[in-house]
Amino acid sequence: MHQTSNEDITKAFNKNARLYDRWMTFFERYVAQGARGWAVSKAYGTVIEIGVGSGLNLPLYGPGVEHVTGFDLSEKMLAIARRRVAEKRIDRVQLHHGDAQALDLPSESADTFISTFTFCTIPAPLAASREAYRVLRPGGVFVLTEHGRSTYPLARALMRAIEPLIIRVSAEHITRDPVPYLMGAGFTITEVRRGGPGGIVFRILARKDDPSGGH
Ligand SMILES: C[S@@+](CC[C@H](N)C(=O)[O-])C[C@H]1O[C@@H](n2cnc3c(N)ncnc32)[C@H](O)[C@@H]1O
Repeated sequence: MHQTSNEDITKAFNKNARLYDRWMTFFERYVAQGARGWAVSKAYGTVIEIGVGSGLNLPLYGPGVEHVTGFDLSEKMLAIARRRVAEKRIDRVQLHHGDAQALDLPSESADTFISTFTFCTIPAPLAASREAYRVLRPGGVFVLTEHGRSTYPLARALMRAIEPLIIRVSAEHITRDPVPYLMGAGFTITEVRRGGPGGIVFRILARKDDPSGGH
């Protein structure tokens, strides 16, 4: 299968940025129903959002969130996010060009990592999981919502068959399951729920254990 690169991601999302919000409105209405709101509701404290994209989560963070730092590889997506922040006068947010697989952040400096529909696009998901583990404080949480392989064998086989084409066209892995990558990075999985058509929508909570037994 074609191995994607950061250049592939940048090219694909710069190209499709203009249509992204419209596509997501459709996707969330018919497929991911409520998953974004669920993910954002789990965030607290100092939040790192990887693949912040056009910033659709930014207006949704609640009062339990002190600050959000968002990273993305696509400048075109970031430009839309910056416009959203300015238009809606959203405070507590900083946006940066940056790579989820190698973040310019100190270790143990965040309470929450959040990835909404980003994990399927990251070229090296284990590297991104390890970065999240490094940057989270002990007791911190990684919240993910994602689309992935169906729970139905026939649908799963069909998805596997068309995945190489989708990867080439839009740099997205449509059968990726984030759980093994998170476990490989050291996370404890505390919740996995599947929903949406064919069970393709994942809602995942993963915790960085606190050896001292604190929060
Ligand atoms: C499908 S969009 C999701 C955007 C947003 N999270 C949302 O919920 O609408 C995936 C985003 O992840 C970004 N992305 C993919 N790989 C990345 C990486 N390694 N580091 C930072 N951003 C990345 C893409 O540029 C794109 O904006």
